[in-house]
Amino acid sequence: MNNLLRIVLLLLTPIMVNAAPNGQQLFEKNCASCHGTSGQGGVGIPLSLPSFINSVSDNYLRKSIRYGRPGRVMPSFNNLSDDNVLSIVQYMRTWTGKEGKIFSKKHVKGNARAGKKLFNQYCISCHNSGGTGGVGTGVTFSRPRDAAIVAPSLNNPGFLSSAEDLFIKDTLMNGRPGTPMMSYKAHGLSEQDINNLVKYIRDFEGGPYPYKDYDTEEPIIKVESPYSMAETIQNIKDAIIGKNFKLIRTQELNKGLVPAGTENKKQLIIYFCNFNFLNKALAIDPRVGMFLPCRVTVVEQNGKVFIMATNPLKLASIFNNNELIEACKEMHSIYSELLEEASL
Ligand code: HEC
Ligand code: HEC
Repeated sequence: MNNLLRIVLLLLTPIMVNAAPNGQQLFEKNCASCHGTSGQGGVGIPLSLPSFINSVSDNYLRKSIRYGRPGRVMPSFNNLSDDNVLSIVQYMRTWTGKEGKIFSKKHVKGNARAGKKLFNQYCISCHNSGGTGGVGTGVTFSRPRDAAIVAPSLNNPGFLSSAEDLFIKDTLMNGRPGTPMMSYKAHGLSEQDINNLVKYIRDFEGGPYPYKDYDTEEPIIKVESPYSMAETIQNIKDAIIGKNFKLIRTQELNKGLVPAGTENKKQLIIYFCNFNFLNKALAIDPRVGMFLPCRVTVVEQNGKVFIMATNPLKLASIFNNNELIEACKEMHSIYSELLEEASL
């Protein structure tokens, strides 16, 4: 190559890089934390396995990135441009060098009732009843060791709006070698059985995006107590113990932030816990650490006493996860009852 050409190419390079988004970089930035730097899997299922990547359409990948899996761990990437999504898909194709499959949008004809019977017999052990998906988010220790890949949710609006019937059928016919998902044709089901299963899955009500319901929740639950500061604190402690929680400690809100001895005695936090609940919740997802141990704040302001707690339902709107939302709901009712009992 002559020198002039080399210089011209060098000058052009940055422009070319800017023109086409870099799929690999986008993948590493947005997806690798869960699916692994080269798609080998992690919290998210392995994407670079040939049995997965060669069996899905570009359309399925593009839509899955856009819609995510609301209520599961997989986020929806609304922030990426169409070009960015496309270049991620193109990058994913380089893993095997093969083009994606193309499925028509044709619906598979089958009998959903017969499909349901088969589903309950063959599939719920992994995909759960109603196709809600494997339990546990797959985040760190919440994932059982013998289930390295959590079975995806099949009743999920993100899945149902991305998957073609014929893709679902293909998955059931061939399985995903290298994962716990086997070929049900090899396992003895007839093609009609498989059509019935596809119809049953297609008929799942994906339901609304669950976490959106909590967007409008107030960040704090707050009640006024008719009692003095000391009485209110005693009431809360009684209520906590009455609910089989363990008191951990009571401390000033600004303890450690101001010189010892000058803490504000009119702003106290009561920490408490129920170890069963704590373990159950941590097994779902370590992010519950954001609201555990349980705490209630008591504040005296202009002669009035208030009891306050972070609203766990507000947190539900940040967790894209149905099981965590259940834990948040449980926490919300515990807090509400405590606050009510203590101020009655
Ligand atoms: C916070 C973790 C997380 C991130 C970030 C994430 N994913 Fe996922 N992804 C998951 C999980 C978990 C699943 C399985 C969904 C389920 O359990 O129902 C999944 C599922 C998928 C699926 C469907 C797989 C299948 O079996 O059909 C695709 C495709 C996918 N992710 C691609 C991506 C891409 C591309 C990105 C980046 C743009 C990305 N994901 C970012 C966690 C994540
Ligand atoms: C032993 C556990 C197990 C059983 C039993 C099982 N699956 Fe799966 N299934 C999985 C796993 C794990 C995956 C994700 C595979 C991957 O990583 O690509 C999966 C993927 C799928 C997919 C693709 C979904 C997606 O997001 O890509 C469909 C559809 C599916 N299974 C349907 C079924 C049906 C219907 C049955 C019963 C006939 C069944 N599965 C039985 C574990 C199981």
